Amino acid sequence: MRLSDREKAMLDGAEGPARQRAMDLLVRYGTALGAERLIPVTNVAGTWSSTTPWVQADLDAPDDFDTIFSRFNLDSDDTVETPQAVVSTCQLIHGIDTRNHALQGFSREKAELQRKSEEFFGRRGVQWASTCTPYQVGNVPVKGEHLAWMESSAVVYANAVLGARTNVEGRESTGAASITGLIPDFSLHITENRLATHRVRVEAAPETMMDWGLLGYAAGEMVVDDIPLLSGAIPQPRPMHLKHFGAAAASSGGVEMYHIPGVTAEASSEEEALGGRAPREEFVYDEAARRRAFEHINAQASNRSVDFVMLGCPHNSIEQMWQIAALLDGRRISSNVALWVHTPRQIRALCDDCGYTAVIERAGGHVMSDSCPAINRATPPGTEVIATDSCKQAHYLPAITGKETWFGSLEHCIDAAMTGRWSGEL
Ligand code: F3S
Repeated sequence: MRLSDREKAMLDGAEGPARQRAMDLLVRYGTALGAERLIPVTNVAGTWSSTTPWVQADLDAPDDFDTIFSRFNLDSDDTVETPQAVVSTCQLIHGIDTRNHALQGFSREKAELQRKSEEFFGRRGVQWASTCTPYQVGNVPVKGEHLAWMESSAVVYANAVLGARTNVEGRESTGAASITGLIPDFSLHITENRLATHRVRVEAAPETMMDWGLLGYAAGEMVVDDIPLLSGAIPQPRPMHLKHFGAAAASSGGVEMYHIPGVTAEASSEEEALGGRAPREEFVYDEAARRRAFEHINAQASNRSVDFVMLGCPHNSIEQMWQIAALLDGRRISSNVALWVHTPRQIRALCDDCGYTAVIERAGGHVMSDSCPAINRATPPGTEVIATDSCKQAHYLPAITGKETWFGSLEHCIDAAMTGRWSGEL
């Protein structure tokens, strides 16, 4: 790997032990990937949290944040002092909602640890957005900007919708990127690697949120970790549709980039999306494929007695929160069901001001932030059967919690919350 004089000096320790270890990590990582150089990044999104279960399981002193940073963000056995971030750095989702920690089954001490962790890393430049959707709360990179982001649903949104450039990074590489402003130059940082490889002919046009999730789930299964071009008469999507599409495609497959000509950032036409090449393979998404995706995602569920409804994966936008409040207004969910609605903490504050939080709570639900059941493994006590409007959550929760999980529309999920019964169908 070719390094600049400044990068070599950092590697030799000229800018302190933390940056020396960060450079060592980035060089090892880049070499393993076959990258020829490091490139500057201007925006990092990762995790510095000390309350995720796997961090706490490995610690003697839970509030030794320098050790947490050294071990989990720099892959260093020695503890070094945590330096300031040098580029804009934000925290993605983490392990605990400090406002609702008791509901999640976490102690006051753990919530306090989270607060201390936020104060410690906040003073060193980490912005506690605390969401998997930083682009919904003001962190909106521009086209062409190089990033180092974790979280597959955020990465695919940044690449495809915004035209920024990032691979799916890890805790260590984002930790190192934050204090050096560098990341290896490989894969989606390079223009030719961003072109479409496969064409998906969309014959079952997506209209609803559920449709966009199913299309994403099917597309991910079709192309796995390649880059689909969606063609056909596709209705104009909203940001929340693309958020659901990308999250689903990154769950059933490993999609980090896609093109919809005239909609996404880097393709005004199919030719531009393909870079003048023919697609390697073509797929058709028709009504049969839509039904197969719905049946596949629900294949692990059979018990229709639902006791937990989870909404907000990826974290809900303010528009989605407004829709949920409208569906719940003046109603009361079943006493046998828990309803958790997830949104970024900044949007929850907006929901508090708009009265949506009060409406949802009057109906018996809870507005949660900062985490989700797939990350913190927290579900209401006694949960046996889950319902969600998220393909991603339905994909992961059965394996993570061991509980059956139904996927359907928001309306199906609200109905399940009211009745305790799953009646969702295509
Ligand atoms: Fe976000 Fe958790 Fe879903 S991290 S994308 S709410 S699985």
